[in-house]
Amino acid sequence: MRTLSLLPLTLAALVLAQDDPIRYDLEHNATTLIGTWSSGAGLVQTGPVRNFCSPANKTFNPPPVAGISYSFDGDGNFEQVEYRFGSNPAKPACPNATLLFQHGKYQLLPNGSIILDPIPEDGLVQTQSPCTAHSSTIQQFNVTVLFKEWRIFFDPLSQGYHLHLFRFDGAPLNKMILRYETPIMHPTTTILKPEPTAPARRRRAYVEQRSDAPRSATAAGGIGLMMVLLGVVMLV
Ligand SMILES: *[C@@H]1O[C@H](CO)[C@@H](O)[C@H](O)[C@H]1NC(C)=O
Ligand SMILES: *[C@@H]1O[C@H](CO)[C@@H](O)[C@H](O)[C@H]1NC(C)=O
Ligand SMILES: *[C@@H]1O[C@H](CO)[C@@H](O)[C@H](O)[C@H]1NC(C)=O
Ligand SMILES: *[C@@H]1O[C@H](CO)[C@@H](O)[C@H](O)[C@H]1NC(C)=O
Ligand SMILES: *[C@@H]1O[C@H](CO)[C@@H](O)[C@H](O)[C@H]1NC(C)=O
Repeated sequence: MRTLSLLPLTLAALVLAQDDPIRYDLEHNATTLIGTWSSGAGLVQTGPVRNFCSPANKTFNPPPVAGISYSFDGDGNFEQVEYRFGSNPAKPACPNATLLFQHGKYQLLPNGSIILDPIPEDGLVQTQSPCTAHSSTIQQFNVTVLFKEWRIFFDPLSQGYHLHLFRFDGAPLNKMILRYETPIMHPTTTILKPEPTAPARRRRAYVEQRSDAPRSATAAGGIGLMMVLLGVVMLV
């Protein structure tokens, strides 16, 4: 408490408020988190209907416009898909695209944050360079995600619910609209089994896996680093 007295009054009040468990009420979220949410035109969507990602086939099928989508079910399962263009300083007119799929378990923490804990076998990431029509190979992806806070508002204009998620550092994601109250998701259990390989090949596959950026960065460990990596993925 002594250190708090050194803080400006408003900040101290904020810190104290965050010690209390978050109340999930109309003020915090005008409806439950459960459902399928997506940004913009809603063409990027979790689950098999829009077929943005087919994890079983390890393929992405991006629509013409970027977007993000998240689903949450009542049993603690989430699915995350993102199709983002990042800046390419070398060629500003040629932003690289990142395509991402993860699913697994989510937790609503007492302090109002959300943790997404993915199934490591199933996460997929791919970068695409539209100007050269070059796509990187699809790589395995496993990054724990922390959303510092979240809010759901009812928008009287569109008569719909808007989900605002804030990253670990407080930066907001694009707002997402509730598309389905019953979430549309891929199977929530492990979809991809590790591929059985011949012993000679296995060693090589292991080295390749260790050398790719997303995996080696997660292997380096530390939740902070993972959060930073997520930020990088969003920007790249
Ligand atoms: C807010 O979200 C929580 C968690 O999903 C849910 O239990 C609660 O019913 C929601 N509040 C409202 C007003 O819908
Ligand atoms: C996945 O592959 C199977 C055949 O292996 C095919 O029937 C199915 O249409 C594919 N699904 C998607 C979403 O691409
Ligand atoms: C864009 O993607 C291409 C192909 O994957 C890659 O060679 C290049 O380094 C990427 N550029 C940036 C800025 O990420
Ligand atoms: C996936 O990430 C988690 C959290 O950092 C880590 O504990 C786990 O070892 C990773 N699993 C794989 C297979 O990379
Ligand atoms: C809630 O707790 C988690 C885990 O301790 C922490 O990483 C996160 O920053 C906290 N959120 C807030 C809003 O303080």
